[in-house]
Amino acid sequence: MNDLETLVEQARAAFAGATDGPSLENEKARFLGKGGLVTDLLKNLGKLDANERRAQGAVINQVKQDIESLLSARRQELADAQMHARLNAEAIDVSLPGRGRARAALHPVMRTWERIETIFASIGFAVAEGPEIETDWYSFTALNNPENHPARSMQDTFYVDVRDQEGRYLNLRPHTSPMQVRYARMHEPPIKVIAPGRTYRIDNDATHSPMFHQVEGLWIDENISFADLKGVYTEFLRRFFETDALTVRFRPSFFPFTEPSAEIDMAFTSGPMQGRWLEISGSGQVHPTVLRNMGLDPERYIGFAFGSGLERLTMLRYGINDLRLFYEGDLRFLEQFR
Ligand code: DAH
Repeated sequence: MNDLETLVEQARAAFAGATDGPSLENEKARFLGKGGLVTDLLKNLGKLDANERRAQGAVINQVKQDIESLLSARRQELADAQMHARLNAEAIDVSLPGRGRARAALHPVMRTWERIETIFASIGFAVAEGPEIETDWYSFTALNNPENHPARSMQDTFYVDVRDQEGRYLNLRPHTSPMQVRYARMHEPPIKVIAPGRTYRIDNDATHSPMFHQVEGLWIDENISFADLKGVYTEFLRRFFETDALTVRFRPSFFPFTEPSAEIDMAFTSGPMQGRWLEISGSGQVHPTVLRNMGLDPERYIGFAFGSGLERLTMLRYGINDLRLFYEGDLRFLEQFR
């Protein structure tokens, strides 16, 4: 093996020994760089005479080409190896079960809302929704709450700094009852409707929240009675709580928009809560003044109404003891309803 062949073998060994890009480039400089071994040989050609220079020159050029192709082969090898390592490191096992994202869920009060709609729809009630920002007339006056009457403080709410056509401030509705009047003015009797929605009051403690939910019910026809309301509401509660083991009673009360007015109480007749009366809803026979405000003749039509709190129903259904849990957004609480 002559010197030049040895040089090619040296380069082959040196390149093979370089295991990453930078060290390979260092080896390249050692052979092909400005002060490299091959370059030195070419520089020395000048000392030879013309014939020898031509012959030696061709041989050295061949050596140079050989070393260059060894270099590019090694470069390719290293690049392939690097790509392989990356592919292995980043491999995705498509047969693994997915980690998944946490499944979202309806808020428990929204579940109650949907349940109520489903149950009442199945017993012939329409479902309506109305504005949360109301006029004074719909929230109070139309419901037989005279201006400046102390009964208005039963439903003290928030006001919006915008006035209606009568110059009165708009309010965040303190109950869903305005929907009775809105709906009845737009529909002919017989009317059977529920109107669930958000409501607002200046209250904030373990059993009251400034924003809460109600469902209003309105039934207007020519010949119905409290017994019909009781039948429908009892059926609703039995379906809602998924038990026939409950009874309902009406307890006299006062609301400006009903006469007579009653609280609806319910009691389970078996199970851990057996025998305890629970107040569940306001109700009553629609007041003649309200019927007139609906554009109806109180001599011809009779109406029954109720307004129930969705939070209360939800707490009873799931055994929740603090209303504030609904609004804190604590995932440990909410995840239980997935
Ligand atoms: N609007 C009443 C409240 O928020 C609840 C209510 C009572 C609604 C009697 C009614 C009703 O429709 O007849 O306290």
